[in-house]
Amino acid sequence: MIIIGFESSCDETGVALVCTERGLLAHALHSQIAMHREYGGVVPELASRDHIRRILPLTRAVLNQAGLPMERIDAVAYTAGPGLAGALLVGASVAQAFAWARGLPAIPIHHLEGHLLSPLLATPRPEFPFVALLVSGGHTQIMRVGGVGDYELLGETLDDAAGEAFDKSAKLLGLGYPGGPALSKLAQEGDAGRYELPRPMLHSRDLDFSFSGLKTAVLTRLRAIEKESGALDDAQRADLAAATESAIVDVLAAKAIKAVKQTGLKRLVVAGGVGANRHLRKQLIEAAARLKCEVFFPPLDLCTDNGAMIAFAAAMRVNAGLAALDSAGHAFTVRP
Ligand code: KG4
Ligand code: ZN
Repeated sequence: MIIIGFESSCDETGVALVCTERGLLAHALHSQIAMHREYGGVVPELASRDHIRRILPLTRAVLNQAGLPMERIDAVAYTAGPGLAGALLVGASVAQAFAWARGLPAIPIHHLEGHLLSPLLATPRPEFPFVALLVSGGHTQIMRVGGVGDYELLGETLDDAAGEAFDKSAKLLGLGYPGGPALSKLAQEGDAGRYELPRPMLHSRDLDFSFSGLKTAVLTRLRAIEKESGALDDAQRADLAAATESAIVDVLAAKAIKAVKQTGLKRLVVAGGVGANRHLRKQLIEAAARLKCEVFFPPLDLCTDNGAMIAFAAAMRVNAGLAALDSAGHAFTVRP
């Protein structure tokens, strides 16, 4: 069965084709980063309009890539949420129109389930059950994943998400949008030990996080440096970026490892945009190795939002015989 998937929850338009037996066939992505950059963040109205412009050409592109006619598609998947309402509506409308016109099932997919299952698109592919660290711009969660549709929340952020902490700190440092990759790049040249920053909730007994205080700590430190020596020079900026990255990564890694110990599972899966962070990857691999725990990441280009993870999550749900809800709220199951 061939499923086409649409992702349009934020600032990436993604379309992909996944076969329930053969996996990913084709995917195409358009990032709106350049468009939003001059505003320092995502402008929802512009995002929706750009999704409208891009989604059909991307659909044509994936069909061409896979060398398949439209008639070969058996089901349509789309990101139902969470995300920007207007942006989500574009993907949902196109997907439902497509399904309606061709008499196909339309499968709504939770954006986070897409991220959560995306490491299974890589080889080697993790077996269930595993601990998942889901770190995106809007969410920071630790989950026990028993199988497709079997997700137990073990801990989450009480305020800002890890990606938000990266983005907001990057903004304070005068780095452009999106802040996470920019801050991480600058941090490579910096000394993480020069400025001390807090590791919020590092030693709390639970698996929860809190990042809003860290952003304030970065601001306080920034003001203190400015007061002492005027505007930050390049080295100071890089050192503060490194300190920030290190603080965020330390907490994420510590809690993920704590979850591995608590559950006794030997597989840790990292998903979501912040999963692209090299420092986090390295730290997790090293810490997990000491516990003989394997760590899995999505392919680097599928860490941030994309259509492949949405089509793939739908394929996994179909293969598992799981029901989806139709637009009237009635459950239906798609059979391969
Ligand atoms: O999963 P994603 O594409 O979108 C959401 O669903 O939120 O994640 C985007 C987030 C942003 O906050 C971005 O700054 C962060 O992931 N991010 C990174 C890196 N690449 C993306 N943060 C740190 N280091 C990176 N290399
Ligand atoms: Zn996302």
